[in-house]
Amino acid sequence: MRVLGIETSCDETSVAVVDKSGGTLTVVSQEIASQIEHHRAFGGVVPELATRHHLLRLDPMVKDMLQTSPLASVDGVAVTVGPGLATSLLVGTSYAKSLALAAGKPWLGVNHMEGHLFSPFLSRGLLPERPHVALIVSGGHTLLIHVPELFHYQLLGSTLDDAAGEAFDKVAKMLGLPYPGGPEVEKQARQGNPAAVDFPRSMLDSGDFNFSFSGLKTSVRVHLQKPDHAPVADICASFQQAVADVLVKKTIRAAKKLKVGTVTLSGGVSCNKALRSAFEKAANDKGLEALVAEPIYSTDNAAMIAAVAACRLERGETSPWDLDVNPNLRLALR
Ligand code: KG4
Ligand code: ZN
Repeated sequence: MRVLGIETSCDETSVAVVDKSGGTLTVVSQEIASQIEHHRAFGGVVPELATRHHLLRLDPMVKDMLQTSPLASVDGVAVTVGPGLATSLLVGTSYAKSLALAAGKPWLGVNHMEGHLFSPFLSRGLLPERPHVALIVSGGHTLLIHVPELFHYQLLGSTLDDAAGEAFDKVAKMLGLPYPGGPEVEKQARQGNPAAVDFPRSMLDSGDFNFSFSGLKTSVRVHLQKPDHAPVADICASFQQAVADVLVKKTIRAAKKLKVGTVTLSGGVSCNKALRSAFEKAANDKGLEALVAEPIYSTDNAAMIAAVAACRLERGETSPWDLDVNPNLRLALR
């Protein structure tokens, strides 16, 4: 099963071809055009700008990809239909439907969060054989999900306020660092002491699997108001450590409670090296297998969308032609 995938939910235009054969997943090719440079001056993603750039970039990118993977060689076309920015989703979805209709191929609308959930499998090229607990940390979501088997999702917890990536971005803004804040905070943190400021580990002992990052963000703001506040590098390292501590500890606890042997980590924030290594170390210490998405599949990309679609199309699923985009689409739980 070979699928052409398209992702335009936010500020990356991406096209990929993924091949599924049995339990093996192969990314045949992938292109990502980031729009960060266009949004940086505004301190965040400007939806109208994002939409215009998707319109400009998507068609030449697909045409390029079809040079090496012609439409005749793919079994279907997939695209993110939500969650995301409505008008950005519409560009990719209208394009994908038209392409599939013209080529006489099935199409499938994919949930972006299910894409993130699949991205650790792309990195090792294999679908999981065992139940696992998935931590997805992106700019808009922080989700802890139990996956007893492929396509069965039970929500264990989520953030009650800011998403982990959003907290990184907001703290970066407070510190005067450019957008997007996550990579900038990480860069500063490399020169800092993670034990310099004792920021709160919110909800660590709440007894559930929910998260909260708004109090931590406020603690950074309050600390910054002190005349003798720590240097920026120390604040970044201490903040990053506080976020990683809670994310990692709660994921490991969930895996132990549910008696699963594998934990996965994905979403834009999983690019963060401190989080990745804390996650891997904690899993190893507890005898768990850790699957962490490579950075190229951590941030928004079309390979993860094509991977979900390859598995779902193979099961005979397709989407109706009148399926609309849904900016607030949720993962179907059961
Ligand atoms: O998954 P993603 O690319 O887009 C969404 O679906 O939201 O995630 C973007 C988020 C942003 O908040 C960005 O600051 C964060 O991921 N991020 C990072 C790092 N790289 C990206 N956060 C912390 N450390 C990083 N190295
Ligand atoms: Zn994303």
